[in-house]
Amino acid sequence: MSNDEKLMRDAAERGIRYRKSLQGRKVAPAPEAVAAVARFREMLPEQGHGDAETLAMLDEIGSPASMAMAGPRFFGFVIGGSLPVSVAANWLATAWDQNSVMSEVTPAVAELENVSRRWLCELFGLPLDCAAGFVTGATVANFTALAAARHKVLADSGWDVEKQGLIGAPDVTVIVGEEAHPTLTKSLGLLGLGRDRALRVPVDGQGRMIADALPAIKGPTIVCTQVGNINTGAFDPVGEICAAVRPAGAWVHVDGAFGLWAAAVPGMRDSLAGLEEADSWATDAHKWLNVPYDSGVAITRDPAVLKAAMAITADYLLTDTEHRNPSDYTPELSRRARGVEVWAVLRSLGRRGVEDLVERCCSHARRFAEGLRAAGHEILNEVVLNQVLVSFGDEETTQRVVEEIQRDGTCWCGGTVWQGRRAMRISVCNWSTTDADVDISIDAMLACAERVMQG
Ligand SMILES: Cc1ncc(COP(=O)(O)O)c(C=O)c1O
Repeated sequence: MSNDEKLMRDAAERGIRYRKSLQGRKVAPAPEAVAAVARFREMLPEQGHGDAETLAMLDEIGSPASMAMAGPRFFGFVIGGSLPVSVAANWLATAWDQNSVMSEVTPAVAELENVSRRWLCELFGLPLDCAAGFVTGATVANFTALAAARHKVLADSGWDVEKQGLIGAPDVTVIVGEEAHPTLTKSLGLLGLGRDRALRVPVDGQGRMIADALPAIKGPTIVCTQVGNINTGAFDPVGEICAAVRPAGAWVHVDGAFGLWAAAVPGMRDSLAGLEEADSWATDAHKWLNVPYDSGVAITRDPAVLKAAMAITADYLLTDTEHRNPSDYTPELSRRARGVEVWAVLRSLGRRGVEDLVERCCSHARRFAEGLRAAGHEILNEVVLNQVLVSFGDEETTQRVVEEIQRDGTCWCGGTVWQGRRAMRISVCNWSTTDADVDISIDAMLACAERVMQG
């Protein structure tokens, strides 16, 4: 066996060993393991240490110092794990090392992305000829879709923003809900539309935009809605908002970083009524589809506007007009083949599998809420999706319980503030979480709360 082959087999074995350890280990890394990362701070070696020793060091120091985010009891940050098929497809596609620019030079990747595009539209109930860009995550998916929005609303006013920029352009009104995710406002800032310039629409007790409170639409306007509030999981009334603003020519965007996956569940479609009326959608595959980082998708109803905002030409690039070129729909030119993992999970699970994955996580969230409520703790949100907000009493007690749970290591949850109240946030997105994981975690949470309250 060549040294190269030995190295890759060694990496695969170490990866498999790590994944096997996830069920039994504490979720947060031990303080000694975290302290040991200082060993990475070497001088740049004059002579290299070679492949095998480098990989061994990476595993021996890096693996124990990692948070078990891929495991079944990490409930922080609304992130998923990674299904085995997605990791395996990622390894193979990494071995291909394709630069996913043009269909002519990367035909397999381009085709897989295009199939994934169509399957995602089907799954979310969107028109099948929508365009999609496979980007790094929901932040960039929001940015990409909003670049298409900016293009369209200004083109409607006779302004070519790609050519002319924003200086001297007609004013663009941007409307967001009070509960818009900060990465959405960051995207607006990157697009020259300002982080703090948007008009903010009030929300209800679950963080849903109040459609009746929308201002009258005048001139080029982009309305940013959200499905899946980062704290409560609640959905803005997208259909009502579309009906109110689209007749006046406004573009409606949906930030569905994790909530868009609810559209894959027929039983949840009612709460997403009118979703398909919007003009663009952003979501993450590295959240609820459980593929490795980094993976998000920007979708637009009109393919031409996304292409107008993103595509470039150069003499050395091949201009294949017959096939879909992946880079015509993304901010990057060169990038990895992230659509491959999306395709692998969708093909492996099928429609029913994705539906089951989403439903299972929502049922775990309800189980958490019931267990904690039954023990006398307050649940602050309507548990409509995969998010649970828990209060263990006053601010300080809740914060101390969160810290105690993180130290205990059976599971991991983060803290948040929900409409002025400190809370612990439980987000269930991982494919491997079982009822037993939920029960073990509830027991640990109750024991931690008890310890804090006993002083
Ligand atoms: C509603 C919403 N939008 C955007 C994002 C940003 O996603 P990412 O970190 O993948 O860029 C998140 C992340 O949790 C989110 O919940």
